[in-house]
Amino acid sequence: MRIINTVAAMQSFCRELRMREVGLGFVPTMGALHEGHLSLVRRAKAECDVVAASIFVNPLQFAPGEDLARYPRTFEEDCKLLEAEGVKVLFAPEAAEMYPDGAVTTVTVAGIGGRLDGASRPGHFAGVATIVAKLFNVVRPDRAYFGQKDAAQLAVIRQMVRDLNFDVELVGCPIVRDADGLALSSRNRYLSATERQQALVLHASLSRMKQMIAEGERDSATLIRGGMEVFQTVTGVRVDYLSVVDARTLLPVASVHSGTLVAIAAHVGNTRLIDNFLMA
Ligand code: PAF
Repeated sequence: MRIINTVAAMQSFCRELRMREVGLGFVPTMGALHEGHLSLVRRAKAECDVVAASIFVNPLQFAPGEDLARYPRTFEEDCKLLEAEGVKVLFAPEAAEMYPDGAVTTVTVAGIGGRLDGASRPGHFAGVATIVAKLFNVVRPDRAYFGQKDAAQLAVIRQMVRDLNFDVELVGCPIVRDADGLALSSRNRYLSATERQQALVLHASLSRMKQMIAEGERDSATLIRGGMEVFQTVTGVRVDYLSVVDARTLLPVASVHSGTLVAIAAHVGNTRLIDNFLMA
């Protein structure tokens, strides 16, 4: 696997692939890789001739006081995992390479960018949209792969791709979970054994809501009440949001139907976790 640290070298490498009409799949990450990330790589590998990945802990998507400094960095281990999955090229720039002195342009996705995590973490989705736009301009992939766990992020990126006419197909991939239901996240590494146990409440709450839907409940407010009740069974967990929204716009819906996203964010100790399900 080739590791490239500069924009110019990555652009030139990817340009060459394009000239050879190679179908290029791209998996952008912030590293600290787990099976969720690897599932994106495997999907890209199955659908594209060549897979590129990136590892960049993007400072722009962290607000002051968030976990930028302690975000897990496991570069050597990540490289081994990506190489073993057959990734051809890894783009791993320093912050100064992506945001050199004098860079002032950012991408703000109005409306949707301020919903769900965008409401709880102001500026977060502008940071995400900016770096993803820049990475798309560097790599110019045919397809880019994102995890459905970050459903709001995917909706914001879809909107950006539509609005700015990026010539890329976005592929959303299913959430990967541990055997007990906890959605995989790089931030799970922050959890103590007790917190990891407490964190299962996110999945339990979603499962309760799924069950209610299976039994015929369609009213969003009733479902949210049912999901919130599950949180009363644990201590040490603070719900940030539990929302029933349209998956495309992230606007609340009064009743659920196909295309509805049920999404949760909660603080388990000092760790903010998210989880969701999408109605087929
Ligand atoms: O989902 C992530 O890991 C990040 O938000 C992304 C898309 C790589 C942008 O920094």
